[in-house]
Amino acid sequence: MDRTAAAERAQKLREELCYHNYRYYVCDDPVISDAEYDRAFAELAAIESSFPELVAPDSPTQRVGAAPVAYLPKYAHRLPMLSLQNVTSAGELADFEGRIRRLLELEATVPIRFVTEPKVDGVAIELVYVQGLLTSASTRGDGITGEDITPNARTIRTVPLRLFASPAGPAVPELLEVRGEVYIGRSAFETVNQRRLEAGEELYANPRNLAAGSLRQLDPRETAARPLDVFCYALGTVKGVALTSQWQLLQTLPSWGLPTNGEARQCDSIAAVEAEFRSLAARRDDLAYEIDGMVVKVDDFGLQERLGAISRSPRWAVAYKFPAREATTQLVDIVASVGRTGVITPVAVIAAVEVGGVTVSRATLHNLDEVRKKDVRIGDWILVRRAGDVIPEVVKPIKERRTGAERVFEMPEKCPVCGAAVVRDEGEVAFRCSAGLQCAAQRKEMLRHFASRDALNIDGMGEKLIDQLVDRGLVASRADLLSLTAATLANLDRMGEKSAANLVAAIDHAKHTTLARLVYALGIRHIGERTARALADYAGALDHLAAMSVAELTAIADVGPVVAASVHAFFADESVVEEIRRLRQAGATWPETARAAAGATVAAAAAGARPSSSVSRKTDFVIAGADAGSKAQKAAQLGVRILSEEDFLALLGAAPLS
Ligand code: IVH
Repeated sequence: MDRTAAAERAQKLREELCYHNYRYYVCDDPVISDAEYDRAFAELAAIESSFPELVAPDSPTQRVGAAPVAYLPKYAHRLPMLSLQNVTSAGELADFEGRIRRLLELEATVPIRFVTEPKVDGVAIELVYVQGLLTSASTRGDGITGEDITPNARTIRTVPLRLFASPAGPAVPELLEVRGEVYIGRSAFETVNQRRLEAGEELYANPRNLAAGSLRQLDPRETAARPLDVFCYALGTVKGVALTSQWQLLQTLPSWGLPTNGEARQCDSIAAVEAEFRSLAARRDDLAYEIDGMVVKVDDFGLQERLGAISRSPRWAVAYKFPAREATTQLVDIVASVGRTGVITPVAVIAAVEVGGVTVSRATLHNLDEVRKKDVRIGDWILVRRAGDVIPEVVKPIKERRTGAERVFEMPEKCPVCGAAVVRDEGEVAFRCSAGLQCAAQRKEMLRHFASRDALNIDGMGEKLIDQLVDRGLVASRADLLSLTAATLANLDRMGEKSAANLVAAIDHAKHTTLARLVYALGIRHIGERTARALADYAGALDHLAAMSVAELTAIADVGPVVAASVHAFFADESVVEEIRRLRQAGATWPETARAAAGATVAAAAAGARPSSSVSRKTDFVIAGADAGSKAQKAAQLGVRILSEEDFLALLGAAPLS
């Protein structure tokens, strides 16, 4: 290939790769296969190595590998990068609108349109494109001067190295300064922190710190190793395009290849903004990245200009903040708490503090390994975090605040509840009380779980009541709980005749349950509600389930070897068999299905098949019982072979099970 042909080919490959990169990373909707992409990439790299002078700054080969720098150069923003004033209540949001109306002299009847965007918890960045080519990237800094992080920004897959025009949008402008937020997704954050924990390195407090740290690396290869991402949401200086509103901006940026946040909304009134805030708060935990609030912007750029800015914040926008999910507080003590399965968990007793909108006085430390790795000590100042519904956790100690009076936590040698020896199984992280259900703590947890909402759902059977029943020796087993009488209950603290009668009625009601609930209620290790349902659906009857081998259990969809071994070991225990007999005696019932194909399913599983309740093209056989109906029909459509149970068992050389 001569130089001219190579230059042309390289140009074409760059454009293609740039577009496919956008389809893959920004749209999440690739139009070519990974192999085709890799082939084009390799071809471009080969041309560039034969003709090094053809290496262009927007070549996808230039995303990684820039040499480390000694320091980050300063970068002066052409237009200051502003920050936002916060509001934290509907009242303050209404004040924001009131101020705008006053300044613009708008009557309450004239609508103002707003745009809302999630306030992604990351780092503000400015990207500068000259004639469509990425020429610089900088951090916000103090808003006037930031740091030049161009080589690092180039490694972010969703930052286009060159803009392109789409048929539906305007031409690529002469100059585009676009601002946005660089962030790291929640799961990537957890992966990085987990790795640091294993390596004994200090943890990042939150995704924002990680994103900031990654973006400000002196070695771009370090940045490249962190899965950073970006959402664009504002303009600096622009030349060569006229945009009139925030909403139009958010539609236009992607047409040039720049990613925007899909959760942005247009709102026609401040009431609609308030409704969107509530809706976003409800969606918060479902997003793949952390957000700390919602940014509210006046949509119209003309109105924005009339409103202007005071000191460092625009008058036309605010950040409507969620309650913070992190707080610092003091670790008063670490106590050992005994759970349902006897696992002893170190729990942090902390000076009460508000986290994520609720007051917290305890936080989990997971296990002793984690206490050691995080080097958390009694008396430390700590960072606690409460994400969504999960239990608050101790993120890390603030070592700078240590006085020397802090104490290291030791796991007790005896169970703090029953005094039995504490043991640690070979290869396990957890410490456990060796007394099993002889331990009152485990017994109480077992009963609490049994009566809980997703298990038997005994209305009114709360924690305090179970404590009393166990402490007074009135209840030792699940069957005892179901056999309680109004006379026994009426003797307890704060229990009148009426409530005793209500409770007995609730017990009677809860006795008639389903197999799935019962299996979950038994509190078998590793069996959550979903797995319990899968086991129940599959086995149809408790005795079937109890009789299944580990191999048969493993063949059930979603059941792995750990779960299978746990179920098998549970039912192999004599005392469990006895407990189930006593539950039945106490009047517990659950409908069981002697499924038409149950015999075949068990035999198939034993023969190494993976039985499934749905039919697809991948299905080898469908074994049709009397009520096969739609599935047999689907099998026929897909050309999947249909067998009767007898035929199938004959095929396996097995005898039908009852
Ligand atoms: S607009 C003049 N939009 O919040 C408008 N900011 O305190 C300037 N942020 O420094 C910012 N998501 O780092 C805007 N959708 C969004 C944002 C956002 C996050 C950050 C940004 C800024 C800070 C404002």
